[in-house]
Amino acid sequence: MMLILGIECTAHTFGVALVRKSEGGEYGGWEILSNKKKAFTSPDAGMIPAKVSDHHVEHSASILAAALSEANVTVDQVDLIAFSQGPGIGNSLRIGAALARSLAMRLHKPLVGVNHCVAHLEIGRILGKVEDPVLLYASGANTQIIALEAGTYRVFGETLDTGVGNFLDTLGRELGMGFPAGPVIEQAAITGTYHALPYSVKGMDVSFSGLLSAAKRAHEAGMSNEDLCCSVQETVFAMLTEVAERALAHSGKRALVLGGGVACNRRLQQMCSEMCAARGVQFYVPEKQYLVDNAAMIAVTGALMHSSGISTLLAESEVRPRERTDQIAVTWR
Ligand code: ATP
Ligand code: FE2
Repeated sequence: MMLILGIECTAHTFGVALVRKSEGGEYGGWEILSNKKKAFTSPDAGMIPAKVSDHHVEHSASILAAALSEANVTVDQVDLIAFSQGPGIGNSLRIGAALARSLAMRLHKPLVGVNHCVAHLEIGRILGKVEDPVLLYASGANTQIIALEAGTYRVFGETLDTGVGNFLDTLGRELGMGFPAGPVIEQAAITGTYHALPYSVKGMDVSFSGLLSAAKRAHEAGMSNEDLCCSVQETVFAMLTEVAERALAHSGKRALVLGGGVACNRRLQQMCSEMCAARGVQFYVPEKQYLVDNAAMIAVTGALMHSSGISTLLAESEVRPRERTDQIAVTWR
């Protein structure tokens, strides 16, 4: 039996989770005892890195205490500290890493630095008991299609400019919807009518910049928010579903899992679910708390890594804002 404390701190979310892993198979014996988080929000602007790190400093002690209390454990019972080491915003990453290091030193317990994108895949794999999925990771800063190939998580396709969530948030700001705008756009889209917008898939990659300009023009020309949100959603989610399908076809994998905040969107889930049903492959969407940035996925991934003999020395625990998914040797699968 092992108690793992996970810390997520790559961007706007500060999270702490406690996860217990008992003996047993890869998918058995996981218990998520708590998964606490607090996300920086702002009514008008986007993320200002210095303000986001102030937010994390301000809330880290209370989130840590709340996670321990909900899990009904004390910090001395923790066996392993896992933290998100990259990629992300340096100002944010450093807050989580500093907490992780000080806990590891105080408790004399091992530390594991986790790649945030890999963690989105592992949490879907473990919760959904999915053996070898393709991950469509659609969040604010990231848009990637990832699957295991030759011992690393290979990025089959990705955005050539911004992440899909940042694209939606930028558009939402234009439409006066606040931050984050994704859920507001989803709501507005329900009663909208579709009009064609530029669709941009290049091989396995997607891009959103042309679409953003076209959407701004449509807004200036008087298209209603409802129609614009509907048209934008239909376009970008069809692009994501297309590249996910192509990755399934190329890799021969028989399952798709979703990750990232944008994957909360019902319309994206529906399109992916229909595509998977048509191909006869398994489809799994974790519940919302495990789709958005969360510390449970960091704890689970840290535990998997540690079980294969990995730990991160203090001297190697520097944050890695630009760490790439395919730089990680996947020793635990
Ligand atoms: P990461 O650090 O993983 O790149 P992130 O820090 O932006 O991502 P997430 O919590 O995974 O964090 O995702 C947030 C994004 O998800 C925001 O851009 C937000 O607008 C978007 N989002 C949240 N809910 C929805 C929804 N229902 N529909 C579309 N987008 C959504
Ligand atoms: Fe994320």
